[in-house]
Amino acid sequence: MVVLGIETTCDETAAAVVERPESGPGRILSNVVLSQIKEHAAFGGVVPEIAARAHVEALDLIIAQAMAAAGQIPETLDGVAAAAGPGLIGGVIVGLTTAKAIALVAERPLIAVNHLEAHALTARLTNGTPFPYCLFLASGGHTQVVAVRGVGEYERLGTTVDDAIGEAFDKTAKLFGLPYPGGPQVEKEALSGNPARFALPRPMLGKLNADFSLSGLKTAVRIEAERIAPVSEQDVRDLCASFQQAIVDVITDRLRCGLKMFNARLGAPTALVAAGGVAANEAIRKALSRIAAEIGTTLVVPPAELCTDNGAMIAWAGAERLALGLRDTLDTAPRARWPLAEVRGPDPFGVSAARTAPLPGTTAPA
Ligand code: KG4
Ligand code: ZN
Repeated sequence: MVVLGIETTCDETAAAVVERPESGPGRILSNVVLSQIKEHAAFGGVVPEIAARAHVEALDLIIAQAMAAAGQIPETLDGVAAAAGPGLIGGVIVGLTTAKAIALVAERPLIAVNHLEAHALTARLTNGTPFPYCLFLASGGHTQVVAVRGVGEYERLGTTVDDAIGEAFDKTAKLFGLPYPGGPQVEKEALSGNPARFALPRPMLGKLNADFSLSGLKTAVRIEAERIAPVSEQDVRDLCASFQQAIVDVITDRLRCGLKMFNARLGAPTALVAAGGVAANEAIRKALSRIAAEIGTTLVVPPAELCTDNGAMIAWAGAERLALGLRDTLDTAPRARWPLAEVRGPDPFGVSAARTAPLPGTTAPA
């Protein structure tokens, strides 16, 4: 099964072609990503209107490149998938409308993919990870702990009540005048900083759910910086290191709770899966592998280019859905908001063959 995937929900214009075999991990035939970081850097964050225009300008060419590199034409595809949300609505409209046009002209099925579902299923593309597993998704826009039971069967165990983790990194970087995106910059500064110098709060620590709260931590960094102003280069390194350590401690505590919740519902997970740009952070990765070892499971972290936004994950999620007989009509609406819990699978009652099978077969359950 060969599917084209289109991703335009944020600041990456991306298209990819992925092949899904009957079983096991997928094969990426092409994966083209155009980042808009330069367009947004001056503003210290993604500007929705600039993003939408940049998607319009670039998408046709990016799709053409992905199709050519994969040796495909629209008529040879088994399906056309696009992220239909959640995300910045201007960009989502561009990607979904383009996918509809290709699907209509080539008479191929359309699959409207939830962007979060695509992150959630990427471990199956790269590693063929069987269900059920625990997903930790941390990016600039999302922070979620999710029990992944099957295609279309997701239970959110925890989320952030304010800032996303990547957003907290970006805002901390901005405070010190470090360029956008701030995560990698903060990590670099933290490498030569003292993580114990500043006593920053660990919000939500000890709470029984798996929720996060990060805006207080970001504010605490600002207050410390103001208290010792003017800050030297070493002060910035120490503040970054202390901030990153607080994040690591919070993630460790919140994930321990999330995994307990997972265990109570579904038993042991087959893996702890990380996704999203924040998973590129070395200190966070180390913490994740410690947590996985604690509960006797493995940590699966897809390669960085598949952790951040890309078309391959959309194509793969489309292929997984298509294999279960799921497809969408051409009047499917783009959605700015689309919680994972609202994504439907092959069985609306949640008792699907996909729940326990290592990789679902190509037939939909009756
Ligand atoms: O998944 P992603 O590429 O895009 C979305 O937000 O959807 O994630 C980008 C986020 C940014 O907030 C960026 O600062 C953060 O991931 N990030 C990091 C690191 N690399 C990227 N955060 C901490 N440490 C890093 N090394
Ligand atoms: Zn994303």
